[in-house]
Amino acid sequence: MGGIAVMTSGGDSAGMNPGVKQFVEHCLERGQRPFLIYDGLEGMIDNRIKPASHRDVSGIIYKGGTIIRSSRSKRFFDKNFRQKAFDNLCNHGIDKLVVFGGDGSFRALNVFYGDFNIPFIGIPATIDNDIYGTDYCLGADTALNIIRQAIDDVRDTASSFKRAFVIETMGRDCGYLALVSALTSGAEICLIPELEYDLESLGRRFKKEVQAGRTYIIAIVAEGVKFAHQLTEWLENEIGMESRLTTLGHIQRGGSPTVHDRLMGFEFATLAVDGLLEGRSGEVVCYKASKMIYTPISEITSGKYKINQLHLKAGVKLTR
Ligand code: F6P
Repeated sequence: MGGIAVMTSGGDSAGMNPGVKQFVEHCLERGQRPFLIYDGLEGMIDNRIKPASHRDVSGIIYKGGTIIRSSRSKRFFDKNFRQKAFDNLCNHGIDKLVVFGGDGSFRALNVFYGDFNIPFIGIPATIDNDIYGTDYCLGADTALNIIRQAIDDVRDTASSFKRAFVIETMGRDCGYLALVSALTSGAEICLIPELEYDLESLGRRFKKEVQAGRTYIIAIVAEGVKFAHQLTEWLENEIGMESRLTTLGHIQRGGSPTVHDRLMGFEFATLAVDGLLEGRSGEVVCYKASKMIYTPISEITSGKYKINQLHLKAGVKLTR
């Protein structure tokens, strides 16, 4: 019987540890031989691969990040290194692979699958929540809760000082984190790559509101818009309110996984192992319309994630 290996790849996200724990425990329960690949694609190239036991994954369920670490690999684009990675798997007797990762990792894995046809199942995991084909990616809920806490805290100081605060969120080119945070924190402004914004209209609105007694403004800006500094200056100069910028940065990637991410990690990992043992391959476990489904990797890498229409419609009001 061949072994099944797990790897976490790309930006780490909360929920990976609960997922890795369930992967190992479910493999053992089903009489399989689980392996851990350390350091993502880089570790697969450099043979940092070890058999896993219960002991390796005990006490990790509440931890953020990923205990098997991660990487973004340039070398994996080179066929010679992919061959090396495949040889390493063969030498350990590994013939199935589970990968937690984002868009970039799945594109890389799709190429690897094309090269060697090794059975693998992907698990969407990125705080950006921007993978086509799934409504949810592991780690987004924990990141949203960290952002929510930060906005609530900033509001305390903003209201105490009559200030405008711009809060920049991560998300790469996707506005999901910023938009959901703005809608659930009652922000006044939200700028995301998916929506055009109108500074003139915002200017007219806030000048009126300040005159009518508004004392502070909370603006959420997605990093993909690249406008957080400019908006902070604009609020100070155009609206005439003392303004500060808070860039949340990598704290959004950390933190103990929420209950939702622990449970999603559990479900994704269970279905990944079960899927492989049923003979599935080259697929990603997706969460779609409140159901777990398997979707071919080729489909996942062929499209662009779109934010929920209802949320986008509500977001338009925060851009003008
Ligand atoms: O994809 C996750 C993410 O945190 C993005 O939101 C962000 O743009 C990027 O990774 C940051 O990458 P790095 O950790 O390599 O600086």
